[in-house]
Amino acid sequence: MERIYFDNAATTALDAQVLEAMMPYFTTHFGNPSSIYSYGRESRLAVENARKSVAKLLNAHPAEIFFTSGGTESSNTAITAAVRDLGCRHIISSVIEHHATTHTVEYLYHNGEAALSYVKLLPNGHVDLEDLERLLAESEEKCLVTLMHANNEIGNMLDIHAVGELCKLYNAIFHSDTVQTVGHFPFDLRNTPVHFITGAGHKFHGPKGVGMLYINENVKIKPFVHGGSQERNMRAGTENLYGIIGFAKALELASAGYEEDSSYIKSLKVYMMEQLKKNIRGVSFNGDPLGRSLYTVLSVSFPKTEKSEMILFNLDINHICASGGSACTSGADQGSHVIRAINNNPNQVTVRFSFCKHNTKAEIDSVVEKLKELI
Ligand SMILES: Cc1ncc(COP(=O)(O)O)c(C=O)c1O
Repeated sequence: MERIYFDNAATTALDAQVLEAMMPYFTTHFGNPSSIYSYGRESRLAVENARKSVAKLLNAHPAEIFFTSGGTESSNTAITAAVRDLGCRHIISSVIEHHATTHTVEYLYHNGEAALSYVKLLPNGHVDLEDLERLLAESEEKCLVTLMHANNEIGNMLDIHAVGELCKLYNAIFHSDTVQTVGHFPFDLRNTPVHFITGAGHKFHGPKGVGMLYINENVKIKPFVHGGSQERNMRAGTENLYGIIGFAKALELASAGYEEDSSYIKSLKVYMMEQLKKNIRGVSFNGDPLGRSLYTVLSVSFPKTEKSEMILFNLDINHICASGGSACTSGADQGSHVIRAINNNPNQVTVRFSFCKHNTKAEIDSVVEKLKELI
């Protein structure tokens, strides 16, 4: 039986063209970018060309792009720097951020480095912007606002421009975890009021273990990882050469295919919603799936029964990959902090289906058929 992979918000398959672009850097072109002889300089040139390409695609300056090991490191760097180097003594975040953010802000709070406030959420899981403004206006300390662009579990998207303008008004630093949107939406960073954004290659058919941090040229932070002078002294350690090449290639392909791929993937999401509504009684959807929402993610709640409680396990047995919550905690038994925060209904079980351009309506039909048996 063929596997059906509906967990693309967790990670995606590496694109064959990305692998092809990376291959020489595994084999013949393995020089260390820091070596001064020509073999090293060729690698350096490849890294800098990748940086230029990423910067161009996001409409940023190459000096604003730093390569990292992924979304987690990028968010840790930005949040910690905002507190330690940029004078933010009050962090404003939400309870439905990815753990890369939540655990970092909680660490800084418990360590006595910053106060921490959570903005209210509206019933559909969107951030309450009036409450955000109230928190900013009432703060006596300089604030860091850290709010994700798109939620990886329910797909809700933040109005990044509106939040950025509020941050500007109250002189706050703004970090947005854009791991689910870089490679899925066009970015125009020169015209977006944000200080830090993040990306991870494996979310858009690039390699794992490589990401980026955009740092707006107007903010100056200290290095998070100490050691050599890589990444212009900002992030020590020999560069993930093939990863960086793969990240840039994957972003190039994602940007070129955006119009076609996004409308196709959106049609899959809408089709799955329709089929589920038609075929499964009591089904409901979390977040704002047809409003401000990722086209890749569909969070579905089913009525809890003895059978449906085992749904993820049963989907797995039937070679269907989907997630109960965030990728990083699925498999663990604690449930999802996001679903708990927005839909704490003990009589429902929730599954996240997330799609990519390789999925088909026929796969959705098979999954819905299977779900009819399993619920
Ligand atoms: C929204 C979001 N932020 C951060 C991360 C962490 O990215 P990485 O695993 O590449 O460090 C993920 C990955 O699941 C994510 O979905």
